[in-house]
Amino acid sequence: MGLRKFLAPEIVFGIGARNLVANYIKNYGITKVFVVTDKNLYKTKWIEELENNLKKRDIEYTIFYNVSENPRSEEVMLGVESYIKNRCNGIVALGGGSPMDFAKGVGIVANNGGDILDYEGVDKVIFPIPPLIFIPTTAGSSADVSQFSIINNSKRLVKIAIISKNIVPDIALIDPETTITMDVNLTAYTGMDAMTHAIEAFVSNASSGITDIHALKAISLVREYLPKVVREPNNLEYREKMMFASMQAGLAFSNAILGAVHAMAHSLGGFKDLPHGKCNSMLLEHVINFNYDSAVDKYDMISNELLLDNRGLSVIEKKNNLINKIIELKKEVGITCKLGNEGIVISDIPELSKKAIDDPCMITNPKKINLRDIEVIYEEAR
Ligand SMILES: [Fe+2]
Repeated sequence: MGLRKFLAPEIVFGIGARNLVANYIKNYGITKVFVVTDKNLYKTKWIEELENNLKKRDIEYTIFYNVSENPRSEEVMLGVESYIKNRCNGIVALGGGSPMDFAKGVGIVANNGGDILDYEGVDKVIFPIPPLIFIPTTAGSSADVSQFSIINNSKRLVKIAIISKNIVPDIALIDPETTITMDVNLTAYTGMDAMTHAIEAFVSNASSGITDIHALKAISLVREYLPKVVREPNNLEYREKMMFASMQAGLAFSNAILGAVHAMAHSLGGFKDLPHGKCNSMLLEHVINFNYDSAVDKYDMISNELLLDNRGLSVIEKKNNLINKIIELKKEVGITCKLGNEGIVISDIPELSKKAIDDPCMITNPKKINLRDIEVIYEEAR
């Protein structure tokens, strides 16, 4: 193993973590907070409670909730305008991946200038961004612990990945109770996103001993608790386990980066405006099928965490076992859709593939992949 680095924010994990928000705002010396959320969460008790917390401590704030499910670059620029106009000097994001990625985007442009699309790729964010305090409300995206921000370039209909150590939040207040407001579909999609993070990080060619332990833990937790939480969405213990799994997967992928599933999901999600976790779910087993022979030992360890008994089996049999287990898990949580059901036609595939091959997540895929390989994977997933 060569040199490896590991980066994580300060984390407070557990029920009640969200209520520390005002303390951290004061600690960071923020005098006016830019609160980012989305339209659905704006109506929930979490925002009402957050506002009460801020008012009690006489903290000035402005709330921005015009954030789409796959946040668009022009929305980010409107956010920056509002941030500057309101003279804010710190950001609180409450929500899933979309508001959190959006908040990072606002912070990037507020302190670095230009347009958010200028920052696509690795380490393009030069200056530190304003203090970021994140309260995740889904157990999947892990934008609260990661150095990723995914923004939809709505002109090119593709999601861009911004990866920089400067956009790791200052503090993640990870409170499992907030995930109780997710419906069953979103729970399943975000849970499969966490599973995909863990698997891709584990087989990534930038993985290390430091990321592997987090990835493996996440895989076993998602295997056990995602079906349980989908059956019993109000069970707080299961919600907590999934939130912990998501955090572990986030620590792994933020540092080991991802692979072809995410590269292809970004292209797909930008093209059809589909939920991110759904895109990953539709691609995961097909990418495993392609990658398997490049990382047999690592896939064996994943199979182990999924409690598959592979003793005495050939490589092909082990691969099929793993693929079937992923399909079975998806089915258990109600995910059976394919790209064809989502309106993807064969003639879309060349364009989707061209965009996917340029995504920075492709660089760490364990197997070298060309345009034709990507087209075949999309075709198989249709
Ligand atoms: Fe993801």
